[in-house]
Amino acid sequence: MTDRYAVMGNPVAHSKSPFIHTAFAAQCNQALRYEPLLVPLDGFAQAVTDFFAGDGKGLNITVPFKQQAWEMAQVRAESAALAGAVNTLLRNADGLLEGHNTDGPGLVRDLTVNAGGELRGKRVLILGAGGATRGIVLPLLRQTPAELVIANRTVAKAEALQELFAEHGPVQACGFADLAGQRFDWVINATAASLQGELPPLPADLLAPGAWCCDLMYAAEPTVFCRWAQAHGAAKALDGLGMLVEQAAEAFLLWRGVRPETGEVLRRLRQAS
Ligand code: ATR
Repeated sequence: MTDRYAVMGNPVAHSKSPFIHTAFAAQCNQALRYEPLLVPLDGFAQAVTDFFAGDGKGLNITVPFKQQAWEMAQVRAESAALAGAVNTLLRNADGLLEGHNTDGPGLVRDLTVNAGGELRGKRVLILGAGGATRGIVLPLLRQTPAELVIANRTVAKAEALQELFAEHGPVQACGFADLAGQRFDWVINATAASLQGELPPLPADLLAPGAWCCDLMYAAEPTVFCRWAQAHGAAKALDGLGMLVEQAAEAFLLWRGVRPETGEVLRRLRQAS
């Protein structure tokens, strides 16, 4: 029987994961099928149990179930443990439900391998302190930046993340007002502000010469943050589409033991958007 994979979410119809994984499977000659599964808001745990009790081999998890997936996981990879969220599930060799978070590793791979960026020794700023930020802090710290500053509207949430990750590297928390007079080599937007076409209040001279910016969001048109970055001297303004494809590639690697090549899939997604 063909191995079965799926993405669970609510809503899920918009998900690009079926397209991406189907393309990866064709490219890597892997016989599998991958489908979107709309799961009732109160039915996630049952749906996961049923999926793996049947012929299901692996799951991606999207909004709003990533935290529940983390709770359900019997084994958590390092990528997921502190992230508090799981976007990839599999049943491991011991028969246990194993949770991973490939979002952060996917972002780092897009920034460093695809775009050729360097994080080592750099001053990195993350805007926002929600779930998206929590998922990317550890993989970013693993790149040994000089400093990782988390700025958030609600400063207490940034401070909680500083405390959580302090033993893993130089993390600092602050509010947006504290950014005055500071310069960063990287600015990563992980706020949900872009969803409303809004921007956090950022000083005009925030970017160091040659700074790179990245928005975790993506859209057919450059996001409001990417437009801000370009207007304020960023050498690069990346969006989150590369991260989306790379997090999928990390999941595919975990499931199938093969790393797909992402460039072609990314090109096709850009053309389609
Ligand atoms: P996600 O999982 O996408 O990170 P979240 O956990 O709800 O979603 O977090 C949303 C983040 O975007 C938070 O950091 C939020 O700031 P607060 O913690 O102060 O709420 C931030 N955010 C949302 N809208 C914003 C806006 N208009 N300006 C600045 N920050 C905003």
